Amino acid sequence: MAKTHVTMKVNGTEVEGLVEPRTLLVHFIREQLQLTGTHIGCETTHCGACTVDFNGMSVKSCTVFAVQADGADLTTIEGMASADGSLSALQEGFRMMHGLQCGYCTPGMILRAHRLLQENPAPTEAEIRIGISGNICRCTGYQNIVKAIQYAAAKINGTEFREAAE
Ligand code: FES
Ligand code: FES
Repeated sequence: MAKTHVTMKVNGTEVEGLVEPRTLLVHFIREQLQLTGTHIGCETTHCGACTVDFNGMSVKSCTVFAVQADGADLTTIEGMASADGSLSALQEGFRMMHGLQCGYCTPGMILRAHRLLQENPAPTEAEIRIGISGNICRCTGYQNIVKAIQYAAAKINGTEFREAAE
């Protein structure tokens, strides 16, 4: 099958590759770029494990073809930490609040929460729950994921994080 040359910026670095028209973006990211932090759960747009930041939007990367990302600016979980390896506020929040168990949903959750906090820096608990409603976690029951995002919002905003009584 004829292949198309694509270029895009991923985590601040220009990358390129040859892809078939049917190649999903998640497969390009994982197999050609070897960025395996972006997970595949369903490949049918249901679970959110493959969520990346795509031109300033949360996008399930199993839902778009790699050719559709030609010229795009993407962030994956590998781009969330600083160059010196220090964790982003969200990564720290998930660690501190035990926002993961098996970790399968976590890269997608963090990328989704990243965009949520860009759009709404101080979300309520209800806004967080709605904001991550496209991302499924089979382990945590979501409570600690919500706390992790609240922790990150407080850290980014320089406000005090108080754990709500359950
Ligand atoms: Fe993309 Fe589940 S793998 S939404
Ligand atoms: Fe296991 Fe979310 S931590 S699926």
